[in-house]
Amino acid sequence: MLCLPRKLAFGMTSLLQLVNNAGVAWSSCPDKVLAAKEVLNTNYYGVKNLTHALLPLFRPSAAGSRVVNVSSMAGQLAAVGNNKWKEQLSGEDNLNEEVIECFIQAYLKDRAEGVDTVLLIPNKEVFEAYGDYTLSKAACNAHTRVVARDLANRKEGEKVFVNCMCPGITSTAMSQNKGHSVEEGADTAVWLVLRPASECVTGKFFLKRQDRGFFYIREAFSIDAQSMIPEK
Ligand SMILES: *[C@@H]1O[C@H](CO)[C@@H](O)[C@H](O)[C@H]1NC(C)=O
Ligand SMILES: *[C@@H]1O[C@H](CO)[C@@H](O)[C@H](O)[C@H]1NC(C)=O
Repeated sequence: MLCLPRKLAFGMTSLLQLVNNAGVAWSSCPDKVLAAKEVLNTNYYGVKNLTHALLPLFRPSAAGSRVVNVSSMAGQLAAVGNNKWKEQLSGEDNLNEEVIECFIQAYLKDRAEGVDTVLLIPNKEVFEAYGDYTLSKAACNAHTRVVARDLANRKEGEKVFVNCMCPGITSTAMSQNKGHSVEEGADTAVWLVLRPASECVTGKFFLKRQDRGFFYIREAFSIDAQSMIPEK
């Protein structure tokens, strides 16, 4: 991970677009807290760290640079059952990295104690399987908004448009090869990167090329999420 920023810093190449696509849904670690940390390291901290490392290296461009975080509907605020956290994460001006960190720590405490006071997912099996993933994507969505807000005042020619999107259930190892094609999954991310600057927005959540907001969507997928939980 250090290599790319370093190469860029030495001017070997420059950057206009970044699509944060790395993601995992499960960890095979039997320790619940360590498992959650593994998922968070890839889906949240890795993305956050990489983006912060690369942001200074974006080349000014009339078309504006683009950052697209591949996220998930799973991380919509609808999945955060606890009203205190829902409120904190939906705030505009008061939302920052510390709030997101406290949210993560509250969840890790839940995992250590074997309870669910943050997400409040009624189905225990789904909580066990998807809690870490849900949490990581909720953190990712919130962080997208924080960074978009912090970058929003850049002047013309130096703009960075930051958004996140849900690819839908896409046929990869993570979904046990269920779901639509990779091309279809990538469509909205590619569209966000190629859109003319005059049509770009920042700090939004997209599904199927539409701004769907951060609160609520439960688009019915033809595949039951539970059927993707790997056999133990
Ligand atoms: C992210 O950066 C922090 C602070 O430098 C570091 O402690 C942490 O290990 C990094 N995590 C990942 C997954 O890169
Ligand atoms: C998403 O994008 C922002 C803006 O570039 C980036 O700083 C942030 O780390 C990303 N959020 C996550 C964790 O996905």
